[in-house]
Amino acid sequence: MDSVKCLVPANDVDSSDDDEEPSDQLMTTISRHSFGEDSDEPPFSVSIIENMKEEYGLFVWPCSKILAEYVWQQRSRFSGTSVVELGAGTALPGLVAAKLGADVTLTDNSDGVEVLDNVKRVCELNKIKCKVLGLTWGVWDASIFNLQPKIILGADVFYDASAFDDLFATVTFLLQNSPGSVFITTYHNRSGNHLIEFLMVKWGLKCAKLLDAFSFMPSYKASGLSGNIQLAEIVLKA
Ligand SMILES: C[S@@+](CC[C@H](N)C(=O)[O-])C[C@H]1O[C@@H](n2cnc3c(N)ncnc32)[C@H](O)[C@@H]1O
Repeated sequence: MDSVKCLVPANDVDSSDDDEEPSDQLMTTISRHSFGEDSDEPPFSVSIIENMKEEYGLFVWPCSKILAEYVWQQRSRFSGTSVVELGAGTALPGLVAAKLGADVTLTDNSDGVEVLDNVKRVCELNKIKCKVLGLTWGVWDASIFNLQPKIILGADVFYDASAFDDLFATVTFLLQNSPGSVFITTYHNRSGNHLIEFLMVKWGLKCAKLLDAFSFMPSYKASGLSGNIQLAEIVLKA
């Protein structure tokens, strides 16, 4: 089974936000995402608290499910590795990496208190230890200088073209701050334009691997997903 969803009674999800509207609570669901059911390894699942409001970071986007599956399939790269997830939202890929033994920092927009609080609750729900950090692309808070990830993850972070340059600035900084590191991203090519390829050249980056998402997704997981989704591994140009 890939993921199952259930509507959660409001008082089943602990909320420290006294201002939360009853209607917000009613829209809260928990989805469960399974990994390893088709392998010899012990399977596990990750539960995600989602809220169907107009907030991009409170929903598990298809790119996130695909990147999480790729992390699982590439699990030997993650044990004991330092990982930062950018624009993590509900953070399924980063949580899978943490389950595989990576040292994970989950980040999202510093202004997005609701998203950051939600991901902390998701960590507690799954009893997974991750650091959670506000990190806005293109903004140089002191905390970013301490990050030296070997793997940077980003699912569906290329959706607003006006933020692409800021995102690439942050990615390039992290790649330079941690020699030999790689940015693994899944993106939904909604417009069909090639802005990302152009910006990679501009920022001195290159694509080390490019996959059609549906080439590695098991069919029982792919059947619920649609769209032109690609996975790229991006590194500094030597
Ligand atoms: C489409 S959602 C994807 C969320 C999650 N990665 C997923 O795939 O389910 C985009 C995420 O990027 C975050 N984001 C948008 N602009 C950002 C910025 N300037 N700095 C940091 N995070 C940003 C949003 O808060 C949101 O969580």
